[in-house]
Amino acid sequence: MEKILIITGGSKGLGLGLAKEYHENGYRICSISRSKNEKLYFMEQYQCDLSKTETIENVIKEIFSHLDKNNTQQITLINNAGDLGTVNTIENLRPSEINYTIQVNLTAPLVLSSQFVKLTKEWNCKKQIFNISSGAAVNPYESWVMYCASKAGLDMMTKVVSKEQKELPNGVGIVSIYPGVVDTNMQEKVRSTPKEHFKAVQRFIDFHEQGDLSSPEQVAKKIYHLDISGELKNGRILDVRNV
Ligand SMILES: NC(=O)c1ccc[n+]([C@@H]2O[C@H](COP(=O)([O-])OP(=O)(O)OC[C@H]3O[C@@H](n4cnc5c(N)ncnc54)[C@H](OP(=O)(O)O)[C@@H]3O)[C@@H](O)[C@H]2O)c1
Repeated sequence: MEKILIITGGSKGLGLGLAKEYHENGYRICSISRSKNEKLYFMEQYQCDLSKTETIENVIKEIFSHLDKNNTQQITLINNAGDLGTVNTIENLRPSEINYTIQVNLTAPLVLSSQFVKLTKEWNCKKQIFNISSGAAVNPYESWVMYCASKAGLDMMTKVVSKEQKELPNGVGIVSIYPGVVDTNMQEKVRSTPKEHFKAVQRFIDFHEQGDLSSPEQVAKKIYHLDISGELKNGRILDVRNV
């Protein structure tokens, strides 16, 4: 029987760390991202730009057409792909930039989760969705309005869907996870923002200089451990630094 992980953004950063960790623990990995890396032979890679909402349904259906519900022990969707978006105060954001960031960070997880719940309805195995959220969902950072708002929306999705699913006989368990400050391209982008566009930039430069960033591998191990130890109970919103 297979254990399956469908993950967005498995091509790099935290997503790659998670894909490797779950693969090492016997999972079949299906990743969705814009780029494809031939060296990542261990994962089935599906190319899709998650800002193009109309293509998402097709890609998840394509993945499911290769899966067998009678041969699956458990299936997990990790909504990991995310984009910081343009870092600037609200009056300096273009409508297209707002649209892009909300589509990648919030609309895509909603569409994928909707399809995941629908397509696994008759599956008897264990079913889970992990939303990779952020402390930015609850801490308002000036110039990160799109990022903060989209992560807050992701957490609300977790709360609503967990209520919908909890009454069902074999519902999907859904959680939000704050991964902490992770050493990825996203953090490089944060540190390189000019101070006039992002007041808190020095705080992130200091984290880096003081060696306070976790590696994607460390965070992935933590999340996997929380998963197998039963900590990721339906409806939880948790910060990996506090557990
Ligand atoms: N790094 C941190 O300190 C930190 C802290 C809190 C939360 N998070 C969250 O953790 C998650 C992973 O972030 P990260 O730091 O690993 O970022 P990253 O290094 O920038 O990686 C982002 C991943 O998302 C994919 N992606 C981005 N835009 C996409 C699009 N339009 N369509 C499809 N895939 C797309 C990228 O793949 P392609 O480029 O191949 O498309 C890549 O695999 C995000 O949700 C982020 O908000 C990160």
